[in-house]
Amino acid sequence: MNLTLDFAGKTVVVVGGTSGINRGVAEGFAAAGAKVAVASRNPEKVADTVKALEAAGAEVAMGTSFDVRDPVGVAEGLASFQAKLGDFDVLVSGAAGNFPALMSEMSNNAFKTVVDIDLMGTVHVMKAAYPFLRRPGASVISISAPQAYLPCEGQVHVCAAKAGVDQITRTLAMEWGHEGIRINSVVPGFIEETEGAERLAPTDEAKAATMAAIPLNRFGTKADIAGMCLFLSSPLASYVSGTVIAVDGALYQGGLGMLSQQLGTMLRQVAGR
Ligand code: HXC
Ligand code: NAP
Repeated sequence: MNLTLDFAGKTVVVVGGTSGINRGVAEGFAAAGAKVAVASRNPEKVADTVKALEAAGAEVAMGTSFDVRDPVGVAEGLASFQAKLGDFDVLVSGAAGNFPALMSEMSNNAFKTVVDIDLMGTVHVMKAAYPFLRRPGASVISISAPQAYLPCEGQVHVCAAKAGVDQITRTLAMEWGHEGIRINSVVPGFIEETEGAERLAPTDEAKAATMAAIPLNRFGTKADIAGMCLFLSSPLASYVSGTVIAVDGALYQGGLGMLSQQLGTMLRQVAGR
């Protein structure tokens, strides 16, 4: 067995790949020699990321702008990647939106916005990419969150949406497995220096409460998540499909309890409840 993670000649598409965790994943594949394409809403973030991917060692790097809530834009964007780079060996679906808010203080549209980005966005990406996935051999990865299986105060929209994402993963593993396509969810824990982490734990106090819930006693890094995505897309994982894999320092064992309490207390104080 070849144990090196060499993605030379492979086409990797990362949706939502222009900042934070997903950009770290795109850069990981670039460093392993892949042809890498990224997409998100902001054209400046796309252009900046393409430059970084080239510098990281991508054989080819490209990008385009679309909103995952727009199925036509997603389909056109992914078709442009396929036209230039060929069928997709790896697809990472990671676009997401999040803000802490209690259900009682959130409009229906606020809840729907997160569902539209995280859950319907995943649907749009999966459906548009399906014709372009390499058969056999494609590795599809949904970037999920602990909220998918750990209830968390102030996160009801994300909890609902990401639980749906994981069920899409499990179900498509059954529907697409017959064509030699594997699909898994990767669940980042609390990843340092990211938008998501800053939104959920903006203060030193909140960060300390979160750290106390992580048995490995450190926050995760973007490289931790990139490593799992490379592993899952390599021959080492050729029999792994339909799984939801946490890369979270055993946060799952401690639960999101402390972060959840912290968020709930803070949001209730603001709401006067
Ligand atoms: C209550 C809020 C709100 C808040 C927005 N809304 N922020 N409600 N509290 N803090 C409401 C708005 O009032 C509006 O409802 C609706 O949500 C849509 O807001 P818009 O600003 O119009 O939406 P949009 O411009 O589409 O932006 C989407 C967004 C934004 C999700 C609100 O924050 C975004 O673009 N986020 C992308 C980046 C991101 O979130 N990254 C973190 C991912 S981390 P009304 O009723 O007024 O119309 C993650 C998991 C982290 O996913 C896990 C860590 C452990
Ligand atoms: P981030 O930096 O905000 O990354 C989100 C990415 O998605 C950006 O590239 C953003 O670019 C894009 N995006 C957002 N909304 C979009 C839309 N409607 N259409 C297209 N692209 C969109 O956040 P992050 O914290 O690194 O999170 C990345 C992923 O990891 C998310 O799936 C999140 O749920 C998951 N996660 C994060 C953590 C954490 O600790 N940070 C923990 C668990 C799970 P544009 O702004 O240009 O659109």
